[in-house]
Amino acid sequence: MKITVVGAGAVGATCADNIVRKELAHEVVLLDIKEGLSEGKAQDMMQTAALLGFDTRITGSTNDYAKTANSDVVVITSGLPRKPGMTREELIGTNAGIVKGVVENILKHSPNAILLIISNPMDTMTYLALTSSKLPKNRIIGMGGALDSARFRYQLSQHLGCSPADLNAIVIGGHGDTTMIPLISKATWNSIPVTNFLSEEQQKQIVNDTMVGGATLTKLIGTSAWYAPGAAGAALVEAIVRDEKKLFTCCVYVDGEYGQKDICMGVPVVIGKNGWEKIVEVELDEKEKAAFAKSADAVRSMNDVLKTL
Ligand code: LAC
Repeated sequence: MKITVVGAGAVGATCADNIVRKELAHEVVLLDIKEGLSEGKAQDMMQTAALLGFDTRITGSTNDYAKTANSDVVVITSGLPRKPGMTREELIGTNAGIVKGVVENILKHSPNAILLIISNPMDTMTYLALTSSKLPKNRIIGMGGALDSARFRYQLSQHLGCSPADLNAIVIGGHGDTTMIPLISKATWNSIPVTNFLSEEQQKQIVNDTMVGGATLTKLIGTSAWYAPGAAGAALVEAIVRDEKKLFTCCVYVDGEYGQKDICMGVPVVIGKNGWEKIVEVELDEKEKAAFAKSADAVRSMNDVLKTL
């Protein structure tokens, strides 16, 4: 197994760090356009090997895609992060060109790779990666819902005073502050509906705090978050390389499921060695269906911006 992470910024480096700690591959390449950045961070991580006891080798590369050749999985984090007050959608102009170029370069050297997209606006970048590369749809996965669902479980755990690991809860829809849909009606605490324990007001608060989870951190830190985004990326890489068949919400090409077509959006999918292997349809109530359709409209109008670039 060989894994490449493109972009050695905070999210890319954290994702690579999680990947090497879990020994998900023999070889990991961290690539960045900034001279020396990826080599420096890769060496720093290699120097933790003696302390943490992992055998994965990680090397850096300043924009030399030949070093990424024959990667099985490629995580793409390239592009500008959000600044406080910015939406993910405002990044489209800059990040579309960057992501398209990265996908082209990666596929020249790793034509069989599964691509995991983290760059924002993530739903549109996933759609762009798919339409520009014409790869089979199962090999393009956007990370957003895996992260948003982890944030949802965190918010629920704070209110319930329980372990996030005991919670089953997913966020579907777009990966935007107003487009994501935390499905609180379906969330359970070890199979007991969480709604049994939470007032209407608490439920609203949890849903709202989940939706602005990324923006809240951007305001506090001054830039986009990285620990949870990096860990979510690595969890998906793990599900692929270990062929786990785990159910995650990811942004994938939807072709009729959930009443949508020709769009990449967050839906529950089984992740394994072939990328995303199956979309799982959850029965939504009328309100959730309407929210999903509204979310799709917003993502679609963002995808339309690609035509003007
Ligand atoms: C976030 C970015 C990674 O939600 O989209 O923190």
